[in-house]
Amino acid sequence: MYCTRNVTEDLVFVGSDDRRLSMFEGTYGVPRGISYNSYLLLDEKTVLFDTVDKAIAKVFFENVKHVLNGRKLDYLFVHHVEPDHAATLEELILRYPEVKVVCNRLSFNMIKQFFDFDLDERAIIVDEDSLISSGKHNFIFRMAPMVHWPEVMVTYDKEAKILFSADAFGLFGAQNGNLFADEVDFERDYLDESRRYYANVIGKYGVQVNNFIQKISAFDIQIICPLHGFVWRKDLDKFINKYKLWASYTPEVKGVLIAYASIYGNTENAVQILASKLSEAGIKVDIYDTSVTAASFIIAEAFKYSHIIFASATYNTGIFVAMENLLHDIEAHNLENRTVAFIENGSWAPRSYKLMREIIEPLKGTKIIENKITIKSSLKENQLKEIEDLKDAIVKSM
Ligand code: FEO
Repeated sequence: MYCTRNVTEDLVFVGSDDRRLSMFEGTYGVPRGISYNSYLLLDEKTVLFDTVDKAIAKVFFENVKHVLNGRKLDYLFVHHVEPDHAATLEELILRYPEVKVVCNRLSFNMIKQFFDFDLDERAIIVDEDSLISSGKHNFIFRMAPMVHWPEVMVTYDKEAKILFSADAFGLFGAQNGNLFADEVDFERDYLDESRRYYANVIGKYGVQVNNFIQKISAFDIQIICPLHGFVWRKDLDKFINKYKLWASYTPEVKGVLIAYASIYGNTENAVQILASKLSEAGIKVDIYDTSVTAASFIIAEAFKYSHIIFASATYNTGIFVAMENLLHDIEAHNLENRTVAFIENGSWAPRSYKLMREIIEPLKGTKIIENKITIKSSLKENQLKEIEDLKDAIVKSM
C-alpha cells in the first residue's frame, strides 16, 4: 500500500524507511534505520527526483504509481548514481519507458557501468549552464563532486526555491513518519546521527563540501530535500552552519574524546583516572572502548571534540587491532586540527605510542601534547604525577 507525504502542494515525498539494514554500505551500523528519499513533482510535466535502494522498491513503485494517478512520467533527475539511490533505476525505466533521464556526463557514464539498458536514446545531459522546465518550475544544476561521489550534482528549483541536495544534509536514522526536520527534536535526537553520517560518508572531502556550500550560497533556498533524512523548511542556516564547521574540520566542542584499547583493564584504569581529573578541572570528557564501540561512532566524536587521547595496549609488537583500525579510519577521513595525546601500555616492550603517533601526527593541523604516558602492565602510584601533568597540559591547551 502506498505511503506518501506532500512536501509542497505539487511536490510529493515517495521514498521510505529501511529498518532491517544492519550495515549501511556494508560498513556503518544503522541501529535506527535509514531513509531513502525520492520526490515526485506534478507540474505540466512530471518529474521524479532520484529513485531508491532496492530494499524499499515495492513501496516506492506503489507510491510513484499512486501519485502519478495515470499520468506518464516525463523526467527522472539523477543526482547520484550510488545504488542506495539508483538501484531501482532500471525497473523504473521498464515501468515508465517514455521517461527522459536527466543527468550529467559523469552520471551518464556511471549509469552505463551499473546497467545495460539503452540510456543513449532517453538521456538529457545537463551541466551548470543548462535549464530544464517542467512548466511552472524551472531547474538549474550545480555539480557537487565528491559530495559524496565524483558525479554528484544538485538541482535548484527557481520557482519553489527548493534545493535537491543529493547526499548533502542527509543523516543516518529512519524518518519514522516525520518528513520535516521541524517535526522532531533534531538537536536532541538526530544531530549525533547527522554528524556520524557526515563524518563517515562525506567527512574526507571537506574542501569539496566547502566549495559546494559556496556554490549554493548564491541561491535563495527555502527548502532542502536531501536523499536521506528530513526535509528542511525551517532554520536551514543552523544545519548549513554545522556543515561549515564539519567541512572546515573545526571542533564543535572544546573537550576531550578518549578512545582506548585495553586487554585486561589496566589501560582503561589509567584512562578513567585521567578522565576524572579532567572532569574535576571542568573539562568535558567522553570515553569509548574501541573494542566495543564501532569506529563510525568514534569518528563522529572525533569530528566533534577539540582534543583526542588515544590510549592503547601494545599487541603483537604493534597497536591493539581495534585501535589500529580506528587510527587508520581517522587517517582515511583526513581529520584535521585536533590536539592529541597518547597513553601506551606494554608488559615487556611498549611500542604503541610510537606507532600511534606515526599514523596521527601527519594529519594537517594536528598538535601533539608531548606528555606521553607509558604504562608497564599497570599504572603505579608514582605515575599519578604523570597523569596530573597530562591533565594540566590538556587544560592549558584548551
Ligand atoms: Fe546515499 Fe552516496 O549515497
